[in-house]
Amino acid sequence: MSEIVVTENITGVAMQQLRETHDVLFDPQLWQRADDLAAALQTAKAGIVRNQTQITRELIGQAPNLQIIARAGAGLDNVDTAAAAEAGVVVSYAPSENSVSVAELVLGLMLSLVRRIPAAWQDTRSGGWDRAGFTGGELFQKTVGIVGLGRIGRLVAQRAAGFGVTLIAHDDYVDPADPQIRDLNVKLVSLPELLAVSDFVSAHVPLTEQTRGMFDAQLFSQMKPNALFINASRGETVNETDLLAALRDNQIAGAALDVRSTEPPVIGEFEKLDNVILTPHIGAFTHEAQERVVETVCRDVAAVLSGGEATSVFR
Ligand code: MLT
Repeated sequence: MSEIVVTENITGVAMQQLRETHDVLFDPQLWQRADDLAAALQTAKAGIVRNQTQITRELIGQAPNLQIIARAGAGLDNVDTAAAAEAGVVVSYAPSENSVSVAELVLGLMLSLVRRIPAAWQDTRSGGWDRAGFTGGELFQKTVGIVGLGRIGRLVAQRAAGFGVTLIAHDDYVDPADPQIRDLNVKLVSLPELLAVSDFVSAHVPLTEQTRGMFDAQLFSQMKPNALFINASRGETVNETDLLAALRDNQIAGAALDVRSTEPPVIGEFEKLDNVILTPHIGAFTHEAQERVVETVCRDVAAVLSGGEATSVFR
């Protein structure tokens, strides 16, 4: 059994180096096979995961040699961090390494929705030239409502500002007096106010017990009929049945979803709607972001296994 177990598709120069210098089990599908995953972690000193592998209390309890779990990404909703702390297992992650990429995708999704770029491409590709049919809207002078003004929410705000939008945000955890928040020129408002006035509502909340399913029928019913909803955070923050109903009933005008409540999703109803854009959780998937992410977690794993300290640690 190997000292390092890589349970998902995590590649790049730093991973290659780690594989050349350490005993690594590299099995990108391991996260899907619960028994094999448990067996591999039972003897491993390190596990490197993305967001699919559920690192539960039970798994940690069965892994006496485990020293570090490295999460190649920002979200830690799939790692029982409390159980890791109790067991003395370091949790390393990459909290900001992919934020710019996610923020840029969000702007891309906003433009794709409002200009219907994917549909125009499909139509043109099959011989169409329907210029008037693809008349869209501008971002300019629209209101962008950001739900969750953390790292990515702030980067979205900075980038959207360049389009001349009005920026508002809702976040119970930020201090309006914080100079970083003041410099963003974002008006902090209540969630009902944000939903009532936003042309774009972009979700940037982490997945917690409080946020699970928070975007539900009640919230969609408070949005404007022309509102476009973007989610590049976590699929489980959305009640997908309610979103589907809101889209079908024209309670809102459209949605772009990079994340789904089950990934990969079961192909279903969203795929049939013209006012929906779906992407396969690619927010963090740029060459630049992945290089940074993989470098961070591989460096931490190598450090811990040689008796040193990880530097990008969740506390
Ligand atoms: C993240 O949490 O960093 C992103 O959602 C990407 C990922 O999970 O791999």
